[in-house]
Amino acid sequence: MKTSEIRKKFLGYFASKGHEVVESSSLVPHGDPTLMFTNAGMVPFKHVFLGDETRSYVRATSSQKCVRAGGKHNDLENVGHTARHHTFFEMLGNFSFGDYFKEDAINFAWEFLTEELKLDKSRLFVTVFEDDDEAYDLWTKGVGIPEDKIARIGAKDNFWSMGDTGPCGPCSEIFYDHGEHVWGGPPGTPEEDGDRFVEIWNLVFMQYDRDAEGTLNPLPKPSVDTGMGLERVAAVLQGTHDNYSIDLFQNLIAAASKVTGIKLGDSDEQDVSLRVLADHLRSVSFLLADGVLPSNEGRGFVLRRILRRACRHGRLLGMKQAFMYKLVQALVDEMGDHFTELKEAQGNIEQVIRIEEERFIKTLDKGLKLVEQAVSDAGEGGTIPGKTLFTLYDTFGFPTDLTADILKGQNIHLDMDGFEVCMNEQRERARAAWGGSGEAALPKAVFEIREQHGATDFLGYTTIQAEGAISGLIAGDKAADVAKEGDEVWLIANQTPFYAESGGQTGDTGVIRNKDAEFVVTDTKKVLSDLFVHIGKVSKGSFSVGDTAVFEVQGARRDAIARNHTATHLMHAVLRDVLGEHVKQAGSLVTDERLRFDFSHHQPVSEDERKIIEARVNAAIWANDAVETKLMTQDEAVASGAMALFGEKYGDEVRVVSAGFSTELCGGTHVKRTGDIGVFRIVSEAGIAAGVRRIEAVTGEAAYQSFVADADALNRAANLVKVRPNEVVDAIKTLQIKLKDAEKELQSVKAKASTGQLDDLIATAQDVNGIKLLTAEVKDVADMRDFMDKAKGKLKSGVIVFGQIKGEKVQLVAGVTKDLTDKYNAGQIVREVAQICGGKGGGKPDLAMAGGTEPSKLKEALSEACNLLK
Ligand code: ALA
Repeated sequence: MKTSEIRKKFLGYFASKGHEVVESSSLVPHGDPTLMFTNAGMVPFKHVFLGDETRSYVRATSSQKCVRAGGKHNDLENVGHTARHHTFFEMLGNFSFGDYFKEDAINFAWEFLTEELKLDKSRLFVTVFEDDDEAYDLWTKGVGIPEDKIARIGAKDNFWSMGDTGPCGPCSEIFYDHGEHVWGGPPGTPEEDGDRFVEIWNLVFMQYDRDAEGTLNPLPKPSVDTGMGLERVAAVLQGTHDNYSIDLFQNLIAAASKVTGIKLGDSDEQDVSLRVLADHLRSVSFLLADGVLPSNEGRGFVLRRILRRACRHGRLLGMKQAFMYKLVQALVDEMGDHFTELKEAQGNIEQVIRIEEERFIKTLDKGLKLVEQAVSDAGEGGTIPGKTLFTLYDTFGFPTDLTADILKGQNIHLDMDGFEVCMNEQRERARAAWGGSGEAALPKAVFEIREQHGATDFLGYTTIQAEGAISGLIAGDKAADVAKEGDEVWLIANQTPFYAESGGQTGDTGVIRNKDAEFVVTDTKKVLSDLFVHIGKVSKGSFSVGDTAVFEVQGARRDAIARNHTATHLMHAVLRDVLGEHVKQAGSLVTDERLRFDFSHHQPVSEDERKIIEARVNAAIWANDAVETKLMTQDEAVASGAMALFGEKYGDEVRVVSAGFSTELCGGTHVKRTGDIGVFRIVSEAGIAAGVRRIEAVTGEAAYQSFVADADALNRAANLVKVRPNEVVDAIKTLQIKLKDAEKELQSVKAKASTGQLDDLIATAQDVNGIKLLTAEVKDVADMRDFMDKAKGKLKSGVIVFGQIKGEKVQLVAGVTKDLTDKYNAGQIVREVAQICGGKGGGKPDLAMAGGTEPSKLKEALSEACNLLK
């Protein structure tokens, strides 16, 4: 049975048992700050298990995308070396939210495996948590599993937790016995890590919520969470114990073979690398499709590490150029039908991967230099220390096997133990460093309000003022009945014209009034996807739950936001036209002050392009087209050519906003006609990450103000140079020429002055033991060397020392004419003289320079020169 058929069969089976089929959620667990990635099928249902949220169903089933490459569950380093570790995998699951419990969970699993998939009963082996007599009896007495095919196991393997905190409970695992020909033993035996008995399904009996102190608090209702690795069960059905041999992976590996020219089975080491490529291709592509971008921290960093690990293995296979991006097509062919986000983001995924690979190749080259250095430091027969191996691994992306490969044939050892120590330290650091995504956890009261009153109706597309009934107040983390003057609270209502921050558009501000009371809204946010929260402070009187009030958005600000939002759409379309279709939105921020737009593009936008973009957006503004909004299904939207955004999830019904030549899926608020934007001006363009550029722009009054500010500056400049503004450039050019001439003149005056000074000085030379000695403190000499040369020329024969004070410092120069260099050494002279004024120096026998730090000692130092000749 093909992998995709198994997925379908699973979901179909549980649908027939009254389960709601739920689509896979994003790999980025939005709204859960404790998790790095979605790492199990139950993650999207966490709040349902905790009893904070209810859904329209009490049974669900899904095939959830999971990544285990960071945080509590992390399999990254094992991937490639084993038959069943993955960074990305799909988890098939069925869930009961306080509905059925152990008995049905066990019976469903058994029926599905033995009757739907028709697995041989005698090959199934189960485990239960050591104290769980109930589960033990259900398996033995209920299902009829013989006692020699069931084991009781401790908490390490049979107590499952989502993370350090959150839902958890004892579990029961189902194993498949691949038969005697494969080495390994049943769970609980010393041979359990072999490949013979493979865990295929984990049934978790969710009973507790573990808090930050580690206390297990009972869940409101016992529930069920199960997880069956799709790849594992596919392996069983396709008669292999190696996940990488299933249809899906074979196709990905075939693509990797085609690109690298390396065939599976040629060598064990190369097989590891091929498996790594197939696995990492999946996690990298799916993470990118869900909007994660490579970076140096948090999720983006894990993504970067995975991709670099793939590149390193590519290198082991002889790939010197970027190649991973070429494999994306094979993944889209394999999985794009079920996970349409892959198809939609394909171009972007390929581009980001390629750019990241190219960057990495540059780093590798630097690493090679370090290897050379390490080899010469170690010397023939020596050892490269673990720390260096680790730096090579961590900073330059050299796995030790790659380093070993480079050193093959050379008599050099690697300190692998030292390397392991550093690796362990790093693992600890990484664990400690992930302090959560930074998103605040939601107060429980929010869930209660959502439960009782349902979603907030948004009225703000058509009005900015409306009545609403207050359905909840939250002060701190707690629900409150009343909010009094001075209280800072969250105010929730049945309906509101306030736009809540989303899709990059900032939340509305304004006032909520009720008779004499007033609440100043400083921000509006959306929680639980459809509950609007007005954040602010009661400035007068008080508000109670149940009150009706008038909600009034600050209109001028909303208009400014709308101008920036519609302008963003126009610019997006223009960018694609001017720079190319590869331009895709990578992030956007729309406020009342400006718009900020991040997009994929591999080089800076040139001055000319920038002018064209600005002019085209303005032309679209002045065309004054009506901005139209239509509601349609997602399919209709795509068919209409609307641009959907990378990493965004849309509901079944989407809003499509068209403005001039732009059509986009968008939930934001816009101007009525493009002309309302007034004028558009780009204020900056810069790169923010590899292959990602950022443009900031202003519209309407802000754009006007920026023109005014520039015109002011120009006028001030014109006043200074006393010309009209349009003549400023010529005036500055003229000034520049004048300045240059003046500088030249000054130089020649200075030179003349110093020659004059020199003539006066020569006359002061004294005779010391028949040698002419000239010592002097000079002033305003720009080039002391040159000055010395000239002095030597004039003196013909002798020893000269000049000193000059420059602020806090002393400059010294000593010169000896050629005929005397066998007797006197300028270097030595300057050193001794400099010593006196706190300095050092040196040079050649005929010319030497020094610096000093004690100007007050200069005179003393110069007279010392006299002693040196005696
Ligand atoms: N959540 C359980 C697991 O991931 C089913 O194993």
